[in-house]
Amino acid sequence: MSALKLLPLLLLFFSLPVLAQVDPIYESKARFHPALGKQGMVSSQESYATRAGLEVLKEGGNAVDAAVTVGFTLAVTLPRAGNLGGGGFMLVYMAEKDEVVAIDYREKAPLAATRDMFLDENGEVDREKSMHSIFSAGVPGTVAGLTLALEKYGTIPLKRAIRPALELANQGFPVSQELRSSLLQVKERMEGSEAAVSVYFKEGAEPYSVGDILTQKDLAQSLNEISENGVHGFYSGAIAKKIDKFMKARGGLITKEDLSSYEPVIRTPVKGTYRGYEIYSMPPPSSGGVHLIQILNILELFPISQMGHNTAAAIQTMVEAMKLAYADRSKHMGDPDFAPVNTSRLISKDFASELKLKINSEKATPSSEILPGVIPASEGNNTTHFSVIDKFGNAVSNTYTLNFSYGSKIMVPGTGILLNNEMDDFSSKPGVPNAYGLTGGKLNSIEPAKRMLSSMTPTIVMKEGEPFLVTGSPGGSRIITTVLQIILNVIDFNLNIAEATNSVRVHHQWLPDVLYVEDGLNGDTVKLLREMGHNVELGNTMGCTESIMKVGDFLYGASDPRRRGGLTKGY
Ligand code: DON
Repeated sequence: MSALKLLPLLLLFFSLPVLAQVDPIYESKARFHPALGKQGMVSSQESYATRAGLEVLKEGGNAVDAAVTVGFTLAVTLPRAGNLGGGGFMLVYMAEKDEVVAIDYREKAPLAATRDMFLDENGEVDREKSMHSIFSAGVPGTVAGLTLALEKYGTIPLKRAIRPALELANQGFPVSQELRSSLLQVKERMEGSEAAVSVYFKEGAEPYSVGDILTQKDLAQSLNEISENGVHGFYSGAIAKKIDKFMKARGGLITKEDLSSYEPVIRTPVKGTYRGYEIYSMPPPSSGGVHLIQILNILELFPISQMGHNTAAAIQTMVEAMKLAYADRSKHMGDPDFAPVNTSRLISKDFASELKLKINSEKATPSSEILPGVIPASEGNNTTHFSVIDKFGNAVSNTYTLNFSYGSKIMVPGTGILLNNEMDDFSSKPGVPNAYGLTGGKLNSIEPAKRMLSSMTPTIVMKEGEPFLVTGSPGGSRIITTVLQIILNVIDFNLNIAEATNSVRVHHQWLPDVLYVEDGLNGDTVKLLREMGHNVELGNTMGCTESIMKVGDFLYGASDPRRRGGLTKGY
């Protein structure tokens, strides 16, 4: 046989091991292809942060090391949501111990906060005060949360985790379209904070152009302080002094004592099951995990996959379940350190079976006919999410926030740190909606040192004892339903993670009685939903997920294209 004739055989022989490694999704008919990795992967809303995290993984760091690095880096490169002056939640799966823990570093109300602090002389909620004033800021938790995570579950020194953030703050990085646009959106509001304007705008409050280098010297100094002195640098050292001084000058409530007494809490995650998968998510003071599991429990009782992806029948069932859960949120949720939340009842399969009976598969139930369920007192525009899986089988799912884009837009002079406006997540007055249209009652009223209720839903789905899906999203009240749909798209509709991410989303939160639908849902389906009695509102996108999925030997990931600049990268 001539050498030429042998060539195809030789090629086939040498390509066999390679073929065996080709990921199955590449060969499929996927409309959207996810990012690919084998050893580790980082998914975040900003590319410098993703790369910084991946570098740590490649050096042998674990998922927590990478996540903490991403968290600090986003405070520099995605200042609308990444933060040192906000708070959040981190879910950590440690393979060696086969344990999932939830780190709660949510902001707290200052000790001087009072129940009616946002009511005006007529007893009405002063929205300007709750959303945009110095009083809108809760005591920040991010630095305490990230440093605790690293200390307990990480392997690298804090200095290493902060290094990329410090370099990017000091040396600067090119302004992206996303950064420029987000700053233009808040420019007017930000003008109340000279310090913020001087950092995020050029001389004369001129906006930066795409490609201009943004340096943040004060923020670099703050990062250096934390790098040198750890958590104390923020809560009792130089940064605390600057926050205290600023608060005193502006009549704000946060004091030295508020800062020095802030503690993150390690909590047991809420756990549920869905069609054989285990769902771990954030417990109160986030409502996210509880209602995610509550809705999944209800949906498990319906043949969702047979109904078909994004059909009127499937959406009808999903939406009716959402309404029931959000009605419960309005009454039964708050900081568990202040009053017991009956989590076990809300996430029980029995309760879901009772709720199932309330769902009409043909007709929308008007929200006015839905009341929060009876739960006996028990025994007891901006956020960002990132996900990490490492080669040791560990996983981190982290959502943190300043609440709105750039939080209160108020910067503490000399620190480069923006204050959150998380106090608006409390229920300032029973039954009066907050910025996300969410109502609440006594359990979420303002009390000194209490944590305000959240919807953030960092989630880890396990399959046969291993992380299968790590996901989460920003989006205020829409976070829970966004995460829900990622899970349904993957488990019920067998979509790959890029397709699951790109699919049209729907949302209902009981009040207002509106079914929000992203543009792109089939017109026939919209018509059917309207005929069923839904008040469908088409338009705005929902959420911005950053997800990683493990299938066989491969890691697949996807950054949500709904916001620019995300990057998911594996190696
Ligand atoms: O904790 C919460 O539920 C809200 N503060 C989250 C805000 C948010 O997601 C805004 N992002 N788009």
